[in-house]
Amino acid sequence: MRALVHPYASGLASPMLTADLTDDDLVAFYAPPGQDQRRGDLSRDGLWVRFNFVSSADGAATVHGRSDGLGTPADQRLFALLRRPADVILVGAGTVRAEGYGGDLVSAEDRAWREARGLPSHPAVALVSGSLELDPESTFFTTAPVRPLLLTTTGADAGRRAALGEVADVVDCGTDQAEPARIRAVLAERGHRLVHSEGGPTLLGAFTAAGLADELCLSLSPLLAGGAGGRIIGDADLASPSGMDLVGLLEEDGALFLRYRVTAP
Ligand SMILES: NC(=O)c1ccc[n+]([C@@H]2O[C@H](COP(=O)([O-])OP(=O)(O)OC[C@H]3O[C@@H](n4cnc5c(N)ncnc54)[C@H](OP(=O)(O)O)[C@@H]3O)[C@@H](O)[C@H]2O)c1
Repeated sequence: MRALVHPYASGLASPMLTADLTDDDLVAFYAPPGQDQRRGDLSRDGLWVRFNFVSSADGAATVHGRSDGLGTPADQRLFALLRRPADVILVGAGTVRAEGYGGDLVSAEDRAWREARGLPSHPAVALVSGSLELDPESTFFTTAPVRPLLLTTTGADAGRRAALGEVADVVDCGTDQAEPARIRAVLAERGHRLVHSEGGPTLLGAFTAAGLADELCLSLSPLLAGGAGGRIIGDADLASPSGMDLVGLLEEDGALFLRYRVTAP
């Protein structure tokens, strides 16, 4: 994997333009602004909310209902490495229903890396669901490496809330929808800083519409997928397109890995 645009390039005597990037290089490449002393802390509430998505060149976010048919080996490497430094992995219920998310979300190597830096060995895990139509006996809960945080709404069914309260911390973040501002506040109250979200499109749409996503990491795969794979932001109804600054660009095997800082909506 090689860097074409590097977030630190202006501060380095010798930017890594063509060198192969090690895992540590990649983690450094994706450091949030607060950890990059040269740029200062750009976040508004001490949190940095990053979304990570993969798309085909024609904009499909899924193939046959899942995203794993889109990723290249380099995308899979990056997908795993972006979890490594996260304080919390944030995901929507639709993604968990489609993709599972049972068991450990980081490797033994990631755990060692985290422990060496004084981080909890596994990131916290937060799931957003308005309906709470989730099975407390699914592997997401029964094999969870840490007790999950369930971010929901006051309108959720009381019986489901009680059942899920046995296996997760359930916190209201709105009445009909979980409000992104409230989600940020709840995560900040828990001491999290780097929020790593793996989507899905509905969740990215809500954060983008609210102007509360800080970063989008987009893997653009050299594929034409066709079909009805939807888009990474779903059908979110934005008042106007949200702008982004390109702060990093990597390439491997024809796949592009774009790091965008989201600007004002
Ligand atoms: N290409 C990629 O990188 C990528 C990444 C992630 C997912 N995906 C794909 O995207 C598809 C899923 O799409 P999706 O839009 O359904 O994903 P999603 O955003 O993960 O899930 C949507 C569901 O999450 C809950 N949710 C999200 N935002 C909410 C909010 N603000 N308030 C309350 N609840 C909220 C709701 O759950 P309830 O229904 O429980 O109320 C909603 O129905 C899957 O096929 C998955 O494979 C692709």
